[in-house]
Amino acid sequence: MTILDGRAISNKIKEEIAQEVIRIKELGEKVPHLAAVLVGNDGASLTYVGSKVRSCKKIGFESTLIHLPEETSEEELLQKVEQLNADDTIDGYIVQLPLPKHIDEEKVLMAVHPDKDVDGFHPTNFGKMALDMETFISATPFGIMELLKRYEVETEGKHAVVIGRSHIVGRPISILMSQKGKAANCTVTLTHSRTKDIKALTLQADIVVSALGVPHFLKADMVKEGAVVIDVGITRVPDETRERGYYITGDVDFENVSKKASFITPVPGGVGPMTIAMLLKNTLLARKRHRSKAD
Ligand code: GUN
Repeated sequence: MTILDGRAISNKIKEEIAQEVIRIKELGEKVPHLAAVLVGNDGASLTYVGSKVRSCKKIGFESTLIHLPEETSEEELLQKVEQLNADDTIDGYIVQLPLPKHIDEEKVLMAVHPDKDVDGFHPTNFGKMALDMETFISATPFGIMELLKRYEVETEGKHAVVIGRSHIVGRPISILMSQKGKAANCTVTLTHSRTKDIKALTLQADIVVSALGVPHFLKADMVKEGAVVIDVGITRVPDETRERGYYITGDVDFENVSKKASFITPVPGGVGPMTIAMLLKNTLLARKRHRSKAD
């Protein structure tokens, strides 16, 4: 069994990007600039955004954190988005999800200019992804594909079962894994809450991608011997014995499933760190595309 070490691979990717930043600086060009908009004080979002901004600093990107109060109106947020669209010093930006309930998430994501949408959430970018066109692929599915590529996991002709149909993970990863190319060419089954018998399907899977957000959902008796297991779940479980008051766990019963798997991602340290690395990669791409447009 091989652990797919997302922390190590993401550090390698960040190092590769840092080298590119050095070259950009040597050429006297402007370094990539990522902005992140956070509305409110959701604990997990604060952690994620903080981590994204810190990673920018480490690799030599410029970064801007725009932290707005919970009471920010939809109109105010849309104005901020328009400002970011028009700001030529910013190559790409994200609006951290989830947004407070009084704000229409779809409306906000639609307002982000596709050329700056380094999350790849805009319909233009999602549509291009589905059509194999050049685009920004959302960081989490992009990170899973990169992890499979770097470990040279055999995917061609394999049966991949995806659990969860979210717009951010399940839906896009099911499309990417069915496409032609490296870490792809799979036969994909996309399962969700209305699927009749998930276990019957996961038992047939060569690759299982679980993006459900239910701790320890995937048990050892649900996977076949030698399966590749990708755990996208990151759930905070309250635990008063810990200083932080919680611990992080995934969708997979790692202790038992890892005994049957050929490759498996841990939580934490698997898909999570890859997500940040791929966001940085998208920001570098945005910078390059931005520059070539300005030429
Ligand atoms: N919330 C959870 N994952 C993500 C992500 O990849 N991007 C943004 N913007 N918000 C998220």
